[in-house]
Amino acid sequence: MNARFENQVAVITGGANGLGKAIGMRIASEGGRIVIFDRVEDDCRKAVEEFTSNGYHASFECVDVSKEPDIESAMKATKNQFGKIDIVVNCAGVVGPTSVRAADVDIDAFDQTIAVNLRGSFLILKHALRMMEDKNYGRILLIASIAGKEGNAGMCSYSASKAGVIGLVKSVGKEYAETGITVNALAPAVVKTAMTDSMLPDQVKYMTNKIPMQRLCTLEEVASAAAWIVSPEASFNTAYTFDLSGGRATY
Ligand SMILES: NC(=O)c1ccc[n+]([C@@H]2O[C@H](COP(=O)([O-])OP(=O)(O)OC[C@H]3O[C@@H](n4cnc5c(N)ncnc54)[C@H](O)[C@@H]3O)[C@@H](O)[C@H]2O)c1
Repeated sequence: MNARFENQVAVITGGANGLGKAIGMRIASEGGRIVIFDRVEDDCRKAVEEFTSNGYHASFECVDVSKEPDIESAMKATKNQFGKIDIVVNCAGVVGPTSVRAADVDIDAFDQTIAVNLRGSFLILKHALRMMEDKNYGRILLIASIAGKEGNAGMCSYSASKAGVIGLVKSVGKEYAETGITVNALAPAVVKTAMTDSMLPDQVKYMTNKIPMQRLCTLEEVASAAAWIVSPEASFNTAYTFDLSGGRATY
C-alpha cells in the first residue's frame, strides 16, 4: 500500500456520498483516518460501515455545514479525539435551482444554495485553520465547480456560490502562504452522483456537451486529483483552483 497519509487525520464534509466518499476512500486506502462530517445520520452510518468493511479507519460527526456551532463543535471534538487535523476536504454541497432562469429563481432557494455552498465553505475553512495553526501544517481543499469559472445557464445560484468558493481560496491561500497550511479548490465538470441524478436530463446534457473530452469525469479521477492536492507532496501549491474539466476550463 502506498502510505502517503499514514498517521494523518482527514475531515471530509459531505463524505457520506458521492465525491466526498470517493475522496475519503482514496485517502483511507493510503493510511489516513477519516472523519465524515455530513448532515444525514443514516448515510453517515452506512458510509462508515463501508469504510470499516474495507479495513479502513472512519467515524462521523453529524453536522450541517451552514451552521457555525455545528462546525465548531465537530472540529473541536475531532481534534480532542485525535490530537490534530491534517486534512480538510469540503465536499458538502447542494445544486439548488436548475433549469431555471434568474428571473424565476426563488430567493429562498438562492439563499439556501449560498448558505450551504459558500457560507459552509467559509465556515469549514475558518474552523479548519483554527485547528491547524498550532501544528503549522494542513491541507485544505474546497470543492468548487467548473460552473464557478465558466457559469452554467439555468444554474445561477450554484454558479455564483462556486465562484465565491474560488474567491475564498484565492484570498485565504495568500493569507496563509508563509505557513505550512495550503488552501486550494478543485473545479470538476460533471461527475455522475446523486446530485447530477437529481437534475433534469437536459441540464446534464447541456453541461456534458461543453466538455471537449465528451464524457463525464469519474469518481476515481476526482479522488486521484484531490488526494495529490491534500498530500504532503503538494507543498508549493496554494490559493489555486485546480482544473478537472476534460478540457472545458480555459484558465
Ligand atoms: N457531481 C458533480 O457533477 C459535481 C461537479 C462539480 C462539483 N461538484 C461538487 O462536489 C461536491 C459533492 O457533490 P456530489 O456530486 O458528491 O453530491 P452528493 O449529493 O452525492 O453528495 C453531497 C453530500 O453533501 C451532504 N450535504 C449536503 N448539504 C449538507 C449540509 N448542509 N451539511 C452537511 N452535509 C451536507 C449530503 O448529505 C451528501 O452526502 C458538491 O460541493 C458539488 O457541488 C459536483
